[in-house]
Amino acid sequence: MLIPLIAGNWKMNTTIHQGVDMVIKLRELLRGVDSVEAVLAPPFTSIHHLSHIVADSPIKLCGQNLHWEKSGAYTGEISAEMLVSAGCLYVIIGHSERREYFKETDEMVNKKVMAALRAGLRPIVCVGETLDEKERGKTVSKVKSQVKKALTGLTGGALKDITIAYEPIWAIGTGRNATPQEAEEVHNTLRELLFELYDTDSIKNTRIIYGGSVKPDNIDSLMAQPNIDGALVGGASLKAEDFARIVKFQSE
Ligand code: PGA
Repeated sequence: MLIPLIAGNWKMNTTIHQGVDMVIKLRELLRGVDSVEAVLAPPFTSIHHLSHIVADSPIKLCGQNLHWEKSGAYTGEISAEMLVSAGCLYVIIGHSERREYFKETDEMVNKKVMAALRAGLRPIVCVGETLDEKERGKTVSKVKSQVKKALTGLTGGALKDITIAYEPIWAIGTGRNATPQEAEEVHNTLRELLFELYDTDSIKNTRIIYGGSVKPDNIDSLMAQPNIDGALVGGASLKAEDFARIVKFQSE
């Protein structure tokens, strides 16, 4: 049985103090929760400080991005090794905002996945279609191609550390989420793709999570779907009560 993963992506929000206040509340609200992996991706500046606060809790930390080189003249960038030393276990790679605003390509996403795994980080690889692609019936071809390219060169052994996040771009920050059935269909297709590419044993721990306007009032029906193994939550992860409710989803 896969342990669900619920990750909160704070994006470019929260100062160190705001992050600390939020995590202290969240730590209390999640006391005793051990059937779900709760992950937070704060801004880089807060990670090390928060690592002390989550130390005795089930909460794990995650970077929002990384560079594929270990070190060097790459002003403004952060390496996988730096994220590990700050206290991260996970890293989000290829979020649609990175792809759109910072021109990240599938090739860059692949290099980042490799670099993360080399350093012992677990990548959360984001894929998803635009509204235009959805309306032209291109959802499946887009996400399958993104997943294949992101995983190029990976052997089966690495798949246990990989999470795929299906995030339809038209659902991110819009309040318009995919219906549980729509999401389930795409997740099922992605699961089948993994079965085509790898053997059953390699992918039995590979989670496929959903992101895009996940809220306390829609998490239960999403998590009731057989192929939805968790959620990547933006806006609703900034409030401790909302995020705790999402982590403590009730599946039927
Ligand atoms: P949202 O963001 O929950 O605010 O829609 C999701 C994401 O970008 O991961």
